[in-house]
Amino acid sequence: MKAVQIPGKGKPLELVEMMLPDPGPGQVRVKIEACGVCHGDTMAIEGRHPLLQYPRIPGHEVIGTIDKVGADVSQWHLGQRVGIGWSGGQRRITGLTYDGGYAEYMLAFADAMAEVPKELTPTEAAPLTCAGITTFSAIRSSKARPGDVVAILGIGGLGHLAIQYARAFGLFPVAISRGKEKEALSRKLGSVAYIDSDERKPGDALRELGDVQMILATAPNSALIGDAIRGLAVDGELIVVSGSDEHIPVSPGVLLNGRRTVRGWTSRDPNDLKKTLDFSAKFGIRPMVELFSLDQASIAFNRMLDAEVRFRAVFTVN
Ligand SMILES: NC(=O)c1ccc[n+]([C@@H]2O[C@H](COP(=O)([O-])OP(=O)(O)OC[C@H]3O[C@@H](n4cnc5c(N)ncnc54)[C@H](OP(=O)(O)O)[C@@H]3O)[C@@H](O)[C@H]2O)c1
Ligand SMILES: [Zn+2]
Repeated sequence: MKAVQIPGKGKPLELVEMMLPDPGPGQVRVKIEACGVCHGDTMAIEGRHPLLQYPRIPGHEVIGTIDKVGADVSQWHLGQRVGIGWSGGQRRITGLTYDGGYAEYMLAFADAMAEVPKELTPTEAAPLTCAGITTFSAIRSSKARPGDVVAILGIGGLGHLAIQYARAFGLFPVAISRGKEKEALSRKLGSVAYIDSDERKPGDALRELGDVQMILATAPNSALIGDAIRGLAVDGELIVVSGSDEHIPVSPGVLLNGRRTVRGWTSRDPNDLKKTLDFSAKFGIRPMVELFSLDQASIAFNRMLDAEVRFRAVFTVN
């Protein structure tokens, strides 16, 4: 099979041919149809996990059909279309501690997959398995209620889905992005207002809007996140899903005067994947995708890093 792998820490992606893997106990083999490019894939290149070994095939937004079933697997059968996200179950991470979806086939764990609803095509479903599940579950976990104003900081793979989920949950989302370029598309996706963070400090602009109950931070920029916290309403919360090494600068006064909360989020409920796919299918939530082939992996990856993609790069395979 063809696969794109990372040969070693910090090394560029390379297209290789390798033997088709055979499923072991508790596994199925998936013939991959689509795989999204998530910012989280940078962790595999940067060597950010103690259990990461090279070469490693990245990719954790995978959709495909079951092509071979491991000896002891009874709950899945040949031909079923499944989705595989970041969690491979039992502390495994797809594309990081075991090989992921930048390939024609992968081995997946039977206890960490969800069936894909018929309404979703593979390229629509792929980004939902990480960008979708993360934003869907983060907003579900928040205190914001229908009718509340919320803000989405960073309009990329996660952010553009977050706008849509917020709208579907009855919230009024405000998009915060660098420059004006993403304004029209953000509004089309459902945002009720747009803040250009190159032009205005998000904290000031959000204060002016008033009554912002929740901010979902998807931009990996701690300075921007720290500033945005000032724009929260009293008792509002900022939920961080983006990863960054920089500390978030926030003064105790900003937290205590407004009784504001800052917390992180990652999906930990194994049922979230199915819920995300089903909700998206029924409520018309679809990612906007740019399609690539496997041999264009580096191009797709760099477009993501430069925030050029509108809004998720997806490989189509097979
Ligand atoms: N918590 C979880 O479980 C989880 C799951 C998936 C991903 N993540 C993390 O979530 C973050 C977003 O992932 P993604 O796949 O949506 O990434 P993405 O597609 O690259 O989008 C991130 C967006 O953040 C903004 N941004 C990027 N770099 C920035 C910078 N240096 N300064 C300010 N803004 C910047 C850009 O938005 P604008 O162009 O609009 O400014 C960009 O489109 C990443 O850190 C990723 O690792 C976390
Ligand atoms: Zn991801």
